[in-house]
Order: sequence, then structure tokens, then C-alpha cells
Amino acid sequence: MHATLHCAALLGATAQAVSVQVDLARGLPGFFLVGLPDAACIDAKVRVATAVRNGGWELPQKRVTVNLAPGDLRKEGAGFDLAIALSLLHASGLVEPCPVPTLAVGELSLSGDVLPVRGVLPMALLARRMGIERVLVPEQNGAEGALVQGVQVHGVRTLVEATQVLAGELSLPPPPASPQPCAEGSLDLSDVRGQDSCKRALEIAAAGGHSALLVGPPGAGKTMLARRIPGLLPSLTFDEAVESTSIWSIAGRLRPAQGLFTERPFRAPHHTISVAGLVGGGSPPRPGEVSLAHHGVLFMDELPEFGRAALEALRQPLEDGEVAVVRARGAALLPSRFMLLAAMNPCPCGYEGEPRCQCTVPMKHGYRRRVSGPILDRLDLHVEARALKPAELAGAPTGESSAPVRARVERARELQRQRFRGLSGVYANAQLRGRALRELCSASSEARRALAASMEHLHLSARAHDRVLKLSRTIADLAGEPRIEARHVLEAVQYRCLDRPIEGREGPLLPAIHRAREAVLRGPSPGAPSGAIPEGT
Ligand SMILES: Nc1ncnc2c1ncn2[C@@H]1O[C@H](COP(=O)(O)OP(=O)(O)OP(=O)(O)O)[C@@H](O)[C@H]1O
Ligand SMILES: [Mg+2]
Repeated sequence: MHATLHCAALLGATAQAVSVQVDLARGLPGFFLVGLPDAACIDAKVRVATAVRNGGWELPQKRVTVNLAPGDLRKEGAGFDLAIALSLLHASGLVEPCPVPTLAVGELSLSGDVLPVRGVLPMALLARRMGIERVLVPEQNGAEGALVQGVQVHGVRTLVEATQVLAGELSLPPPPASPQPCAEGSLDLSDVRGQDSCKRALEIAAAGGHSALLVGPPGAGKTMLARRIPGLLPSLTFDEAVESTSIWSIAGRLRPAQGLFTERPFRAPHHTISVAGLVGGGSPPRPGEVSLAHHGVLFMDELPEFGRAALEALRQPLEDGEVAVVRARGAALLPSRFMLLAAMNPCPCGYEGEPRCQCTVPMKHGYRRRVSGPILDRLDLHVEARALKPAELAGAPTGESSAPVRARVERARELQRQRFRGLSGVYANAQLRGRALRELCSASSEARRALAASMEHLHLSARAHDRVLKLSRTIADLAGEPRIEARHVLEAVQYRCLDRPIEGREGPLLPAIHRAREAVLRGPSPGAPSGAIPEGT
């Protein structure tokens, strides 16, 4: 006797189809499981045989062979139990063969209870793509499976219930999922006193998807500001919500009855986090914080305290928007398009520029070097939060609340969506690179002069030049202007505070910007460089 049922294995952020084939043959009784199972999957032999017996069925004394196809895809975990048990019952003639194409997933306890598994949402999406009509999942995962329309999802509690659903005697559609945000409740920007330049920088970062670093003394409100960024970000599109929720499903982080994400994820890992915790890994591979923050924000508070290896490991996800978790057999790709937000003190004691600061220049260099190579280059905005005076902290908050800022961000993102239509992998100005950057960031001749003068007076690197250009584009988008003007560039160069050498930090950022501004006002001098962006762009 022979029976087949559909199941699914997780590979990176996707579910892959697995067919569970069971054969019963005469011979010495035994249970063989093949198809590249890992240790947890092989244990299905014991769990399934016991759950079937405790469900009241008596298996024939035969030689059982279970094949999980395709044979070259690693099968990890206990999620194949339910499909194996149902196929075995069919093959034994103990339950009727299932008339409708069905995908079943779930772990079995010895008593026959169906236990929750990871990745039900991408598995239900796979079933829909394959044209499979019915999906059986553990009751606790029912809500996430039911997010997928176009397939009948049943949340089963026991193996007996699963056989009744297959026979059409029982229907167990899960209750509708309640939409729940994954981030903490929305915090409002108006709670933060002062720090206007930081608030403006966060608005620009949110509008263009730029990574940002807040630098300032202890207690200036850096953490407070960062925690308010989800309230400024544009709402998730349906596709983004499905992708983010799928990753959380694969990580086993969804709460029972949780619906699709309605807010962008905000992740704030502690600085003691391991490399695997940050970028993903382990066996079976689990998404790390960079993937949990997909389409949302990764906040790295006290940035220099993170381990060197963890900071180095951030390069790939930051550059590529995905992270390859290397396995014995190939690599699993996990998406990780997040906005990086970081905070740090300006020096080891945090009070640089104040009389109480005792840090020497080498101490400051050492502190800064911890982040300089891998990350600092990839942060579009650096902005200083200053210590507030007691008078500023007293009294009622007067600043703008999050709602109008978010409305401006949404408008700026809409302009970007129109601009990047047809460009794959680019959804905000921060993703612009190379030719697309030059072609899509058209600037006036004054803006080009401002950029050239800023590079000269502020000693900006070529990489910083591109970052300033992207930031200028976002500032122009916030103003609803089609072309980058000099004022946008002159604002953008202010968000490069850490590009100045440490020795000059108390020194002249603003005077340098003034000199750049004067250069723009003076107009082009004969023989002067025409600017950093080629004419005609
Ligand atoms: N700008 C501000 N407006 C209102 N409250 C503030 C502000 N700055 C600080 N506070 C108060 O001080 C507390 C500490 O602020 P926060 O943790 O954000 O400082 P920080 O800059 O992150 O400091 P550290 O460098 O030590 O991490 C806040 O919870 C808040 O009560
Ligand atoms: Mg803090």
C-alpha cells in the first residue's frame, strides 16, 4: 500500500514543497525514514507510531518506509509528523484516502496532540501557489495560516481531529486573526523637548529610508528619540506586511491569533548580542535581528559597545538587503531591508566639550575606531543631540507631534515610489547607487557648486559625497521640489558631524558650512571646478 500527502520545509525565508510518501510492505516489521531528515525529524518514527496507537488505531505488522521528497532538501524539525501520521493511516487502510489535495503540518505529541510549528504563514502561501485547496495546521498556528486567502485552513488540536477534517466530517476554520502591531505602542515625538535638529534628521531619515546615528551626552534623549521613529515611518504595504509577518512566523515569534503586522517592526537588540543573534544562523537557521527588523527599524543603542564581529557582520545585510546564512548544504537567504538607527556618546565619558570631560584625544580615537570602519561609512546622517538645560525640560511640551511629520514622510515616499517605478530593489532614496544615483538626482548648477564647495571646506570623502547627494534628494522630496537646490545640499552637509576629525570637533562645522554657502552666493569663479555632478543631469 502506498500514500502521499503534501508538507513543507523551511529554507531561508521561504517554504519549499515536500511530498510525504509512505509505503507498507511485507517483511520484518520496522520503520524507515529517508529524505535527508535531521535528528529531530528522524524522531518522528517514535512520535508518529505512539501517537497513532494512542489515537486508537492498530498499525499492521509491516515494514514501513517513509520518504520525504525531494531527497536533496534538508528536512529539519518535527513539523513533518502530522503529514507522516496521516499518510501512514491512509497507507494502512485505517482511514479513507483524502479526496482533496491537502498540505498538513504540525508536530505530534505522544498522546496525539498537534503541537505548534514555525513558518505556517509561508507554508500556507506555498499551498496557495501550488493550487492545494486544504491546509491542516496546529490550532495555535491557525490564525497565521488563515491570513492567506484562497485556501481552506483548518486548525486541528489532535491527530483524530485531523483525520475527521480529511474525511470531511469536521470543519475547523480558525477564528479571524486580530491585527496586532509587533512594536511597542506608539510613542509621540512631542514628548521630546528641544532637539529640533535631531527631530528634523529623523524626519529626513524616515522619508528617504536613510540610516542615522544620534551622538550626544548621557540623558540628552537619544534613546527617547529613536523609540519614536516607528511613528514617523510610512505604513506597511500589504506585500511588506506579508513579508515581515512571514519572517516572524519562521522565527516562531508570532503570538497565537496574531494577524498581519500593521506597524513596522522596531528591534533594539542589546549590545551583548552574538553574531548569530544579530544576523541569523544556528541549526536549523533562525532569522536574526536584522531579518526581524525587515521593512522596519534596527536600533543599535550604545553602538561602540557592540562586539567588533557583530558590527562587521552587519555589512552584508546593510549593503544587500539580505543575509546569507551558510549551511552545510548551500546558503539560506533571509531578507533584511531595515533602517539602521544607532546612538552613541561622543567620547568614552559622554561629556565631550564640557569641563568635566577628561577623555584624551587617543581615548576618543579608540572609542570612535570601534565603529568607524564597518558602520560609520554606511550611516547617511550623523546628528548631535545636545544636553538640555533644566529650563528646557520644565513646562509643557511645545514641539510638533508625530502625525504631521508622518504625513510629510508619506508624501515624500510617494514621490520616490513614482521615481523608482521599474527599478528593482530600490524603494527609497537611500537605496540609490551608481548610475541610478546620478541619473535620478538632478541638481541645479547652484546645488552642484554647493556640493563641490562643501566637499572642499568640510573635507568630505567620495562616499560622503554620494550620501550627501541622496540626503539632498530626500530633503527636496520633503519640500515637494523636483530638483535638488543649493539649500537642500547645505542642509544635508550639516548631518555629517562625525566626518570632522576629532581634533576639530569643538571647531568649525558651522563656519565651514557658511564658507560653502558664501561660495554658492559668490557664483562660479573662472576656472573653478564646475561641481561634483556632471552637467545635464
Ligand atoms: N529631550 C528630552 N525631552 C524630554 N525628556 C527627556 C529628554 N532628554 C532626556 N529626557 C528624559 O531623560 C530620560 C533619559 O533619556 P534617554 O534615555 O533618551 O537619554 P540618552 O541620550 O539615551 O542617554 P544615554 O547616553 O545615557 O543612553 C528620558 O527617559 C526622559 O525622561
Ligand atoms: Mg540611551
